[in-house]
Amino acid sequence: MSTTITKGFLDDEIFSIISKAASEMGVKAFVIGGYVRDCFLGRPNKDIDIVVQGSGIALAGHIAGILHTNVSVFKNFGTAMLRYKGIEVEFVGARKESYRRNSRKPIVEDGTLEDDQLRRDFTINAMAFSLQKEDYGALVDPFGGIRDLSAGIIRTPLDPDTTFSDDPLRMLRAVRFATKLSTPEQEFKIVPEALDSIRRNASRMEILSKERIVEELNKILLTPKPSYGFELLDSTNLLEWVLPQLSKLKGVEMIDGKAHKDNFSHTLQVLDNVAAAEVQAGREPNLWLRWAALLHDIAKPATKRFDPAIGWTFYGHEIVGARWIPKIFQSLKMPLNEKMKYVQKLVELHLRPIALVTEEVTDSAVRRLLFEAGDDIDDLMILCSADITSKNPQKVARLKDNFELVKAKLVEVEAKDAIRNFKNPITGDYVMELYGIGPCNLIGKLKEQVKEAILDGVIENSFEAADAFMREAALKEGLTPVK
Ligand code: CTP
Repeated sequence: MSTTITKGFLDDEIFSIISKAASEMGVKAFVIGGYVRDCFLGRPNKDIDIVVQGSGIALAGHIAGILHTNVSVFKNFGTAMLRYKGIEVEFVGARKESYRRNSRKPIVEDGTLEDDQLRRDFTINAMAFSLQKEDYGALVDPFGGIRDLSAGIIRTPLDPDTTFSDDPLRMLRAVRFATKLSTPEQEFKIVPEALDSIRRNASRMEILSKERIVEELNKILLTPKPSYGFELLDSTNLLEWVLPQLSKLKGVEMIDGKAHKDNFSHTLQVLDNVAAAEVQAGREPNLWLRWAALLHDIAKPATKRFDPAIGWTFYGHEIVGARWIPKIFQSLKMPLNEKMKYVQKLVELHLRPIALVTEEVTDSAVRRLLFEAGDDIDDLMILCSADITSKNPQKVARLKDNFELVKAKLVEVEAKDAIRNFKNPITGDYVMELYGIGPCNLIGKLKEQVKEAILDGVIENSFEAADAFMREAALKEGLTPVK
């Protein structure tokens, strides 16, 4: 089945170069996959996949020769890649067996275009544009990819059990595409038979590398409405395999007529709120802020208690949660660097700004918060504001109003005291020189006293004030300046 497509999708000169080179080599080349899908969605895509009836590596080599550019060959995967004017073009020979990276099975090439399309993940990703002179730009769509794209349907070309067993990551990809392609106007849905198949095969997640799983989770997290993806992960049982700690947030317990929030749906609401706040602030999505939102209440089940007088409590869940972050990151093979520390810090501090809303907002409490959050204070405020969820809209409105007061106070205190990037005005070298002493615990003690005095507002944040304060404290310790 082929339809001639509207002009414009293949305007870039790279397509005519590939077309000509393929004809010189006597092979047929097609644009396939994400590029074709995104053309119809009107989403620009700089990654082009070319499938060749013949050798993809040989065609890439020929084109690289014409363009005087380098080609990277991945022999194990039977693919080759070159870059041309900021566009990345990947070539692969048409396969009878599944198309996938990291394959352990041998790659079976020499298939026709249709063989190849049949072994791809979804109908919307299996459409191709011909690059042959005789029907240049014709859409080859044997499984109704266009129909599914306009109806918002994720469907596998083959029986889903077969498609998913070729590469179980496709189960996560189904969720990712459904989440990513959904818009406020149209929700993409995974067809029921594919959903059933995912439920049956969820345990196959076990064989996938954590890196590939996290790549998909990150893509879901970065969408405008990540909750949809996590609800799908949950309803297909994938969540238990990819992030079991999150599954544990599910459920509501009731004692003496008192119930607590369902922490799973609350977490997803917070995640969506963060995504919306980023859009509203004109910011790019911050992956790590989204991880912090996803994990902010992760230790609630472990800290849950029922107190007959006050009901459900989750005391210390922010501290325990922050302590769990390295373990969770490690189990997912995520970076154990400053990104992890950032998530850990946000989880640990996520209750602090709201505590200021409900308690009295003193300058010293604000200074301490600024000191601990440092440059991440704005992100913390986004997370904390997103965390205000309740079924009672008046309560939300009241808390949000008070929250604005805290924000204003933060700006005021920061303008006055510049605590955000606090550097102790007193250095160890200065103390050692002044008193003619070597490194010792006393220096740390004096510096700590200066810091506390500034944060408590006993002295202002300046060298003069800090120096006078420190000299007095040193005198009490029996130190006198050498000069
Ligand atoms: N593909 C597949 N099975 C996989 C991975 C990829 O069938 N497990 C096929 C699909 O046809 C897909 C194409 O390879 O369209 C390219 O894969 P990829 O670059 O991962 O995804 P895109 O569809 O290009 O989408 P995006 O760039 O948004 O990830």
